[in-house]
Amino acid sequence: MDILKNLKERYAVKLFNKEKIVSEADKEKLIEIWLLSPSSFWLQPWRFVIVESLEYKKKLRKAAFWQPQTQNSTFAIILCRIDDYSEKNFINPYIDDLVKKRWKTHEELADYKQVMLDYLFKMTKQELDAWAKAQVYIALWNMITSATTMWLDTCPMEWFNPELLEKHFSLKEKWLVPCVLLTVWYRDEKDFYAKEEKVRYDKDDMILRL
Ligand SMILES: Cc1cc2nc3c(=O)[nH]c(=O)nc-3n(C[C@H](O)[C@H](O)[C@H](O)COP(=O)(O)O)c2cc1C
Repeated sequence: MDILKNLKERYAVKLFNKEKIVSEADKEKLIEIWLLSPSSFWLQPWRFVIVESLEYKKKLRKAAFWQPQTQNSTFAIILCRIDDYSEKNFINPYIDDLVKKRWKTHEELADYKQVMLDYLFKMTKQELDAWAKAQVYIALWNMITSATTMWLDTCPMEWFNPELLEKHFSLKEKWLVPCVLLTVWYRDEKDFYAKEEKVRYDKDDMILRL
């Protein structure tokens, strides 16, 4: 696979192919890849809500100002940041997981935990929200690229009504805040954008080499 070739052919798909469905195996593989997304301190301050049923796709479409790609894709993901950064619910579960998976003791990780607490809790709530949102966007790009490498198509979407989304998907009760949406399916060759030239600035204008 030449990843550059895949990425050059990728675009934000608006019209999805109604005949082709993403297989369960591919979907589960993608989910595994997404969970490998890196994050600061590997704290994973995100949750991904996968929307597959027609009932919820309709709700998603309404919340996303009727953008058709929400309903037509095989599935959509609401990428959320967490909204509870407490030591009890955010830091401790991570430390416990580290103890379990890396055979460490809580005592061995005490200094590391303190560094993390100092780093995070010097931030205001607003700064923490921005920090968490930035981590979510790392996962977003991982989702887009990994789908692209499997010749699957996606459309990221920031244009939605967060209040409506929170309401329809009970996100507040789960201490989640929606950041961005992604739909996954195969493109329809009739999509107007399929034949459009890629528009990006030139390398020399974007990359500074020192
Ligand atoms: C964070 C983000 C939010 C976006 N939101 C929307 C959206 O709400 N609706 C939409 O149709 N496209 C959306 N797009 C797609 C962009 O318009 C598209 O990626 C951009 O024009 C570049 O084109 P390309 O991805 O097809 O190369 C979004 C893209 C990103 C990365």
